[in-house]
Amino acid sequence: MPAWGVLVLLWATAEATKDCPAACTCQPLETMGLRVDCRGQGLAALPALPAHTRQLLLTNNSLRSVPPGAFDHLPQLQTLEVEQNPWHCDCGLTYLRLWLQDRMPEALWLVHCASPNPAANRPLHNLTGFQLGNCGWQLQTSWAGPSTWWDMALGAVAILGLALLAALLCTTEPLD
Ligand SMILES: *[C@@H]1O[C@H](CO)[C@@H](O)[C@H](O)[C@H]1NC(C)=O
Repeated sequence: MPAWGVLVLLWATAEATKDCPAACTCQPLETMGLRVDCRGQGLAALPALPAHTRQLLLTNNSLRSVPPGAFDHLPQLQTLEVEQNPWHCDCGLTYLRLWLQDRMPEALWLVHCASPNPAANRPLHNLTGFQLGNCGWQLQTSWAGPSTWWDMALGAVAILGLALLAALLCTTEPLD
């Protein structure tokens, strides 16, 4: 292997281990990005994941839910393995369901719910949005944020405009 090859390999390995969660092992992939293997670690919550995660293996843990937006900062994420976890299939699992549905819909058959009762033992694939439950209030709060800021920004621009207009009128008046 040429010297630059060794350097690239060292660099890739250093990058891979830099942000790797303590419970997981991280390997650079030939196709760029990382394979983050967190299988069988008894994880009850998602660890903080490296930004370059491409494959994420979470099989055989104690995960019950995935926070909404948990993978939004991982643009390279392509493969997610989440079988053998005690998933609690209520509206809190909507984000995971939509993520899988968009990117690897066949995996929805492999993800089985542990609770709540009507959903227990069923694959996530079989549950409709209605059965997952109503998350309306959560969506409302997450949508209220940006639009409130937008309204405030528009208001500020309007006030600035009025102030400028008033200033212009005041300075031009003595000329009449
Ligand atoms: C699941 O993980 C536990 C450790 O948390 C391990 O003992 C067990 O062998 C694993 N099971 C499978 C099927 O890999």
